[in-house]
Amino acid sequence: MSSEFSGVTDVRDRLTAAGYLPDEAIETVVYLAERLRKPILVEGPAGVGKTELAKAIATARDADLVRLQCYEGLDEAKALYEWNYKKQLLRITHARGGDVAGGEAWDEVEDDLFGEDYLLERPLLKALRNPRQTVLLVDEVDKVDFEFEALLLEILSDFQVTIPELGTVTGTHHPIVVLTSNNTRELSEALKRRCLYLYLDYPSVEREKEIVLSRVPEAPEQLAEQLVRIVRSLRQLELKKPPSISETLDWTRTLLALGFEHVDEQVAKSTMNVLLKYQQDVDKATGHLRLPPSPEMN
Ligand SMILES: Nc1ncnc2c1ncn2[C@@H]1O[C@H](COP(=O)(O)OP(=O)(O)OP(=O)(O)O)[C@@H](O)[C@H]1O
Ligand SMILES: [Mg+2]
Repeated sequence: MSSEFSGVTDVRDRLTAAGYLPDEAIETVVYLAERLRKPILVEGPAGVGKTELAKAIATARDADLVRLQCYEGLDEAKALYEWNYKKQLLRITHARGGDVAGGEAWDEVEDDLFGEDYLLERPLLKALRNPRQTVLLVDEVDKVDFEFEALLLEILSDFQVTIPELGTVTGTHHPIVVLTSNNTRELSEALKRRCLYLYLDYPSVEREKEIVLSRVPEAPEQLAEQLVRIVRSLRQLELKKPPSISETLDWTRTLLALGFEHVDEQVAKSTMNVLLKYQQDVDKATGHLRLPPSPEMN
């Protein structure tokens, strides 16, 4: 098992080796999160590497990644644990119909019913009980309601949970916790206070180019440079959905698949739908782009 991060540089090296290119803010927060045993709350627009950061930390730490995908209506039963009713029912039926003469004591049956075999472990409980080092990713936490946020807060502060039938479960290793949010609603002050805050924005041209070259190594450097600059300029427009790193990567792969080594007006127009997802954005972008015209067809 790999050791704790020894410092900021170590974080950088190990995240990079895991395929994730961090910047200084990311390195520092990741290092502190482990040192101070605090969750990281990552906010920022779609597709800037929030989820991927948690995955990369897991790889870098040789830890198991346990993911809780949040959605509206997510509750304790789906996030923490629930009892396997079907199996319990079978057990009861079996006790009744089976050994009638022997007369199985109800107490025994009941003990069984709320034992380990009938427990359905959900991500939060799994992260607590996992014997290996764990990264707990609570993805898109802004989608849950306030009641669930309160439960989460409780678990994150004590790293323990009480299951009435089983007792108190305390975490063996302190998991590294990453919460992501797309900022669709304000999170509670209490949750924010407990976390280290990291805002991920669109990267600089240089960093995005590095990301492209590391994720799509077959891309020629010049093409990467050109694409990243175009994407950057598109982000300056007031678009409904500005292109994210994901889209830059998709665009790079698209152009390579089509055999283009540089972008001209025609190429940009015909592939713009990979980058932009609204027709009004496409219209706006094509009006703005200043690219060399395509060579005349003879
Ligand atoms: N720093 C980085 N180094 C390497 N790859 C990156 C980096 N940042 C983002 N990526 C790439 O960008 C893609 C999108 O990242 P990710 O899915 O983590 O975005 P997200 O912020 O979670 O988006 P959403 O809000 O839509 O869930 C990933 O596939 C990843 O390959
Ligand atoms: Mg995500």
